[in-house]
Amino acid sequence: MKDETHKSAHPPCEESPAEIKRRRFLEELCIGLGALCATILALPVIGFLVAPLFRKTPFAWRGVGKLSQFAVGKTVNVAYLDASPLPWAGVTAKSAAWLRRVNETDFIAFAANCTHLGCPVRWLPEAELFMCPCHGGVYYNDGSVAAGPPPKPLTRYGVRVVNGEVQILASPIPITS
Ligand code: FES
Repeated sequence: MKDETHKSAHPPCEESPAEIKRRRFLEELCIGLGALCATILALPVIGFLVAPLFRKTPFAWRGVGKLSQFAVGKTVNVAYLDASPLPWAGVTAKSAAWLRRVNETDFIAFAANCTHLGCPVRWLPEAELFMCPCHGGVYYNDGSVAAGPPPKPLTRYGVRVVNGEVQILASPIPITS
């Protein structure tokens, strides 16, 4: 004999069309708000990743000394401030180049960093060569590669003389590999 006394205390609830519609609306609202929050949280990360693609390469003319302090035919190391130093950079905001006075009016400036992995190159006046101490890279006095792993010549910077001051067109350190 069937026991009719143990029927469920909670009969299945039937939702009305209005309740179903309200529940769906709340579900969609939750999903929408979640997506909005995720987008807001992700924006700084996306900005950080994408910003370098749109940042212009900074260039700036930097004074490196009076015209009179450079002797014709000499190649000397000069220091200057980066084109766009970071506020917290400290001494790392300083950069360097090799500057040669070719004649009374003309200069050539070479990047002080090797085109292989960026080590600072040294100028050897007796040999008329630039030498890289890291992996034996050697450059001729015109900056072209003489030996070793450097893939291309030393980068040159623009040089100008303004009101008796020699200036170098500072730009980011060129490293290619
Ligand atoms: Fe100069 Fe490698 S960094 S040869």
